[in-house]
Amino acid sequence: MSAIQSTDAQREFPYSRRDFERVKSLLFKQAGINLADSKDAMVYSRLARRLRTLNIHSFKEYLAYVGSCKDEMEHFINALTTNLTAFFREPHHFEALANYLRKRSQTKRIWCAASSTGEEPYSIAMTVASVFGTFTPNVQILATDIDSKVLQKAREGVYAQNSISQLSHDYKTQFFYKGKGAQTGRVRVVDELRKMVQFETLNLMSANWCLEAPIDVIFCRNVMIYFDRPTQRKILARMVRLMHSDGMYVAGHSENFTMYPELVAPMGKTIYRPVV
Ligand SMILES: C[S@@+](CC[C@H](N)C(=O)[O-])C[C@H]1O[C@@H](n2cnc3c(N)ncnc32)[C@H](O)[C@@H]1O
Repeated sequence: MSAIQSTDAQREFPYSRRDFERVKSLLFKQAGINLADSKDAMVYSRLARRLRTLNIHSFKEYLAYVGSCKDEMEHFINALTTNLTAFFREPHHFEALANYLRKRSQTKRIWCAASSTGEEPYSIAMTVASVFGTFTPNVQILATDIDSKVLQKAREGVYAQNSISQLSHDYKTQFFYKGKGAQTGRVRVVDELRKMVQFETLNLMSANWCLEAPIDVIFCRNVMIYFDRPTQRKILARMVRLMHSDGMYVAGHSENFTMYPELVAPMGKTIYRPVV
């Protein structure tokens, strides 16, 4: 069987092309994530840590274990997701959200559907708190992700200080505590803001997510990009069915849904309204 790359001899664990293909198909089946063939080295380095922790000596053995152990499946998915995010990433989306909230003050539900480590839902919460001038608006913010580890970090709300360097002085002081002593160089989201966001594990691929509707705003950014076309359409259709007819769907910078005019219509740069 062919080994991946010429560096295989230097690798700690045997890793074949077939192992990589099995990882790919398992991840696709469980999370809808379509890994590119070029990700073979990334897969090796991320999963090698699991093999070391579990004292397993080959990918073949590890894959058999993942298939038989639900808890390990969670670690497997956590290890392979890409969680890159930032506060106010794609700032125009938060300006659009602020405008939307000013026009639709009756907005009740916002769903951040791949929230990663929390920077995105907290940016939504800061926007909501600023527009309504309160930390207790009549708006629920639900933040979900498939990765239980990033959600744990999100709930803690602790970040490197430089992650908020782009924020205004007002936002920094209103929404963050500055770490002291052992916490120097870190900031923590203020308790009032943390309480505005509810974090839950949710796999967009799962058949049984059941959310309270109608949802006014959905942020689903930079996750659909990992899914194939049929999966994207299926998930988008399910989301649209949950949305308020005046709702707003916010996509990632490289996600385009103009090929689904029966589901959504563009209303701004990578922003859509549901078609009902
Ligand atoms: C690149 S991050 C995007 C974070 C944030 N939305 C942003 O744009 O800054 C992609 C996130 O999607 C999550 N994800 C991947 N597959 C998922 C699935 N099937 N269901 C829910 N979340 C998923 C990953 O765990 C990761 O946190």
